[in-house]
Amino acid sequence: MSVSDATTARAVRADAWCPRCIQAVAAHEETCTGCDLGFLRDGGILDVIGHRQRESRAAEVEDFYTDSPFPGYAPGDTAATLLDRSRRSSFLAALDAAVPAGGRFLSVGCGTAQVPAFLALAGPHRRGTGVDGCRASLRVADAFASRVGIGNLQLVRGDLFDLPIEPRSYDVVSCRGVVHHTPEPWRAIDCVARCVAPGGVLLLGYYETIGRAWHGVRQVIARLRGKPARPIWALDSVLRRRDLDAEKKRIWIEDQYRHPLERWLPTPRTLKHLDGLGFEWVRSVPPSPGGTLFEATTDPGAFGLWRRRVGWMIAGINDPDAGLVFVVVRRRQGALGNKLGNKEST
Ligand SMILES: C[S@@+](CC[C@H](N)C(=O)[O-])C[C@H]1O[C@@H](n2cnc3c(N)ncnc32)[C@H](O)[C@@H]1O
Ligand SMILES: [Zn+2]
Repeated sequence: MSVSDATTARAVRADAWCPRCIQAVAAHEETCTGCDLGFLRDGGILDVIGHRQRESRAAEVEDFYTDSPFPGYAPGDTAATLLDRSRRSSFLAALDAAVPAGGRFLSVGCGTAQVPAFLALAGPHRRGTGVDGCRASLRVADAFASRVGIGNLQLVRGDLFDLPIEPRSYDVVSCRGVVHHTPEPWRAIDCVARCVAPGGVLLLGYYETIGRAWHGVRQVIARLRGKPARPIWALDSVLRRRDLDAEKKRIWIEDQYRHPLERWLPTPRTLKHLDGLGFEWVRSVPPSPGGTLFEATTDPGAFGLWRRRVGWMIAGINDPDAGLVFVVVRRRQGALGNKLGNKEST
């Protein structure tokens, strides 16, 4: 679905809810009566940023995704094709199995909201919130949601560094491919982690320093070939695929080779940071989770983690995620990590 298509199918939703206090907000209301959060209405999107000028790097990243909302929908995408495609991913199938039927989930930096739209469609009694800073991506998400009739996903335009979310309020928080596109990834992790309830789960997907090494080589070659960067299609497993349309490939090239702000995060430091925030290890993905995404696995330890990272690097030659890995961590029930700036215990 292109950005211009996205403007056609959108309507103000009658059953919107406030992302901060979850209270229903009446159609055309622009302040939540429960918590005073102000927003503009934009179809089904509650826009908390509104016309405010954004910080320069955030504005640059929003401009980038305005031209190439990520990830792209296929032109004929329907509820059935999104469900089918998502269920073919072992990670998303496991995520669907792990999120309770009536549970609440939050996706930070949801982009065009394919993951939360999938969870919402697969679990009609769930309630999801998708927050992103990019108006154009959210409009694509909103057009898809209204076209296929998703009523249990609230889209919100908000900044990751100033999330309109009550601290410790969501049992499942996912943030895929976002913190590494911010100028301060560690502070970004703090902001996302703050939303997770005690005992809740955070799924953090990021470009891993060693896992992305092969893609780094492809990026260097593509930059040597010209400006803007020109990838060699034969070296990229996504560009080689015959089942992807040209628009999806264009968006992939923009995102993977021409992004204005990209950082890579080493997993040992990421885990240490999360530990300091009061989170404990559940697992990484890869390896493929099977059916038990939120069940604790044995901590691989320093050596095991190195082996895993080298495995990610080797797999990176044909990795459709180009070195993006997930760590899944659970927030401890006891005293909270002091870096969250929230010292009371639960
Ligand atoms: C690569 S896309 C990932 C989209 C989605 N999470 C996925 O994996 O399908 C990165 C998204 O992060 C969003 N983003 C980046 N910086 C942000 C910020 N400071 N606040 C809110 N969203 C941000 C972008 O607008 C973009 O939609
Ligand atoms: Zn509210």
